[in-house]
Amino acid sequence: MTITQKSHQAYPKLVTVVGAKSGEKVNYMAAAWHTCLSHTPPLYGVAISPKRFTHDMIIKSGEFNCNFLPFNKLELINATGQISGKDCNKIDVLNLQIEQGIHINIPFISDAYEVIECKLKQTIKVGDHTLFVGEIVHVEEKDDIFRENRILNRQNIYPTLYLGSDTYITIDKSSIVVLPRD
Ligand SMILES: Cc1cc2nc3c(=O)[nH]c(=O)nc-3n(C[C@H](O)[C@H](O)[C@H](O)COP(=O)(O)O)c2cc1C
Repeated sequence: MTITQKSHQAYPKLVTVVGAKSGEKVNYMAAAWHTCLSHTPPLYGVAISPKRFTHDMIIKSGEFNCNFLPFNKLELINATGQISGKDCNKIDVLNLQIEQGIHINIPFISDAYEVIECKLKQTIKVGDHTLFVGEIVHVEEKDDIFRENRILNRQNIYPTLYLGSDTYITIDKSSIVVLPRD
């Protein structure tokens, strides 16, 4: 099988918006390459190209957050991935509503249904990206998004999934299956 740039990714991918702050500048960018890495300590990773303005902001400040926004904020999410903080202030241009971070100095996006706040633990060069490994210091969740058993409340939340090539999808409410546990 030939591994092409497009085929080596498994879709769909949950999209997050990574926030960073350096000096007074706050910036956000869409990211699909992110994942949980460890329970103890709680680690979260995001792979960011050195070409992104966000890249050096994270190195300078030693912090980042991941903002998970619902599907009805798709245009906003996508826009953070189309323009660079190098050229503009995305908060003004995209009219982003933000709130002060809880355990880090980076504001989070008010529309996020979940925010993961991280302090940078490790920076690993992986090919043409840098894997930023952050220790999770706080998770902010909208009160009503999870059921007691931690299953996503499909009545309220439509996660934003990326299918590549500027294409997005969300979940189908009728497809959820809760399997019994012994
Ligand atoms: C859906 C989507 C997912 C993306 N995922 C990543 C990613 O995981 N890593 C990355 O380096 N860039 C990713 N990008 C590209 C950056 O978001 C984009 O280059 C952005 O403009 C960088 O902004 P900045 O220069 O302000 O940091 C993605 C873009 C989109 C639209």
